[in-house]
Amino acid sequence: MKRQIVIAGNWKMHKTNSEAMQLANQVRIKTMDITKTQIVICPPFTALAPVYEVIGDSRIHLGAQNMFWEKEGAFTGEISAGMIKSTGADYVIIGHSERRQYFGESDETVNKKVKAALENGLKPIVCVGETLEEREANITLKVVSRQIRGAFADLSAEQMKKVIVAYEPVWAIGTGKTATPEQAQQVHQEIRQLLTEMFGSEIGEKMVIQYGGSVKPANAESLLSQPDIDGALVGGACLKADSFSEIIHIAE
Ligand code: G3H
Repeated sequence: MKRQIVIAGNWKMHKTNSEAMQLANQVRIKTMDITKTQIVICPPFTALAPVYEVIGDSRIHLGAQNMFWEKEGAFTGEISAGMIKSTGADYVIIGHSERRQYFGESDETVNKKVKAALENGLKPIVCVGETLEEREANITLKVVSRQIRGAFADLSAEQMKKVIVAYEPVWAIGTGKTATPEQAQQVHQEIRQLLTEMFGSEIGEKMVIQYGGSVKPANAESLLSQPDIDGALVGGACLKADSFSEIIHIAE
């Protein structure tokens, strides 16, 4: 089964607006020859609208890094799905491990955000992954299954068609330690199996499951050649147009 390959760049808390526009423009120029791979860039909230202007009618999609599930109201500092959508973005990262670790996100809040994103026409990129302690305790599958079941509770197969899953082992994020292609493939396969059990074989077969955690040009090929790895959620290496576009070209 041939699935869409999606390479997303999570800029995290980097780039002022002028820096963001410059980087987006460089990525746009360096990926003009790409015809198959889906490209998503996720700058900070402040840069969404300016970056949207820069990417114009290129094939680059825009995504946010987080959102709140309520529509509007007295929630100081929060951003709704509708607000994100109004910038031109059509993706949103939900449940990144940094959100879970530093901002108290739980499977329950992830679920609320996924539902609100879908209701507002945003495609959620939902992150799951185990910590080093959990891997060493041999409970990777248990943890990831709990996160998947929690994130997608009460969703229909139809809604799941708009979702991307990103498997990001926490111990591989920003550490330079990448999961081996075999380690990543094993978890991706298990996630696909679980999604098949929950939503049926069509969703299981079609679901885009990205790998994230120290992806760079040097390891992209071996990871992306695994049968159940359908792209990457890139952190550090997406902050330079050269390395991000190299990864995209490897995926293409
Ligand atoms: O969202 C991206 C991931 O956290 C990966 O970050 O490539 O810097 O390890 P990294």
